[in-house]
Amino acid sequence: MSINLGFMCSGRGSNLRAILEAIAEGRLDAHPAIVISNDPMAKALSVAKESGVRAVCIPSTGLSRGDHEQKVLEVLETEALDFLVLAGYMRILSETFLREFKDPRGFYRIVNIHPSLLPAFPGKSAYEEAFNYGVKVSGITIHLVDEKIDHGFILAQEAFPRYDDDTLATFKARGLAVEHKLFPEVLQILAQGQLSFLTRELVQP
Ligand code: GAR
Repeated sequence: MSINLGFMCSGRGSNLRAILEAIAEGRLDAHPAIVISNDPMAKALSVAKESGVRAVCIPSTGLSRGDHEQKVLEVLETEALDFLVLAGYMRILSETFLREFKDPRGFYRIVNIHPSLLPAFPGKSAYEEAFNYGVKVSGITIHLVDEKIDHGFILAQEAFPRYDDDTLATFKARGLAVEHKLFPEVLQILAQGQLSFLTRELVQP
């Protein structure tokens, strides 16, 4: 089964690129319908365009969260997305926005990647905080989004080591390689419709 994916990105777009490569190489059975960024300078927009994916910038500067989200929803309205993928989207989504992606099975069809082993180190600076804390092991989490920040049903986690001679840069690079491998793999599980584990965990009997 092919799934229709929309993406929201705020920056560099390396996860977006990894996912688009997986689609192009047939490792992920999905259609990339649209990429939305809140930042006109986000490299993710050019990553999308290079792959022929519809790229839309909806700047968030100067808008209330509600007004910005309303504009995003107006653009997404016509796309019939199976899942909205947050690939480095650095803004919090309101409950009003989440409700537009409510699945009858009891979860929101929004997937996020976070560069720590949640619930450790939520927020915008997870690599820095984990590194400065002195962890020996960190990891990547891919989860469904819920009303709380960097929270929700965990779809997958993969750990990676922090070595004694790591710098923040080498630590981040090791994590990013895991991100780029894990994100397409998890989306492929969703594409295969292997959602029984979700419904078991999330839907009240
Ligand atoms: C990634 O490291 C992602 O895990 C992180 O932002 C980066 C985006 O990079 N996301 C968060 O911290 C979310 N709380 P990218 O634009 O190159 O994919």
